[in-house]
Amino acid sequence: MALALPEDGIIVACDINDEYTSEARKYWHAVGAGSKIDLKFGPAMDMVHELSSQDNREPFDFVFIDADKGNYSNY
Ligand SMILES: C[S@@+](CC[C@H](N)C(=O)[O-])C[C@H]1O[C@@H](n2cnc3c(N)ncnc32)[C@H](O)[C@@H]1O
Repeated sequence: MALALPEDGIIVACDINDEYTSEARKYWHAVGAGSKIDLKFGPAMDMVHELSSQDNREPFDFVFIDADKGNYSNY
């Protein structure tokens, strides 16, 4: 997805697992997409609260959720 974005496009990602995200970062950088991925480390619910409290944030074009299914309706 990051490779398909325009020059100024950003993916905001969230995860709670350091092992998985450390491995993922290697590949993001290997393909030149590291600067387009803003990883927020911590529970997604915290990220939702943080992002929704930012008044001047640009809207998201789409949201993809693939974890913590019990919280989907809260997201
Ligand atoms: C099924 S995997 C997602 C894989 C990813 N979508 C992909 O295609 O590579 C689920 C991921 O969600 C993370 N996760 C689980 N609960 C979470 C939560 N409450 N907040 C943020 N991330 C969470 C896990 O650490 C795991 O890396």
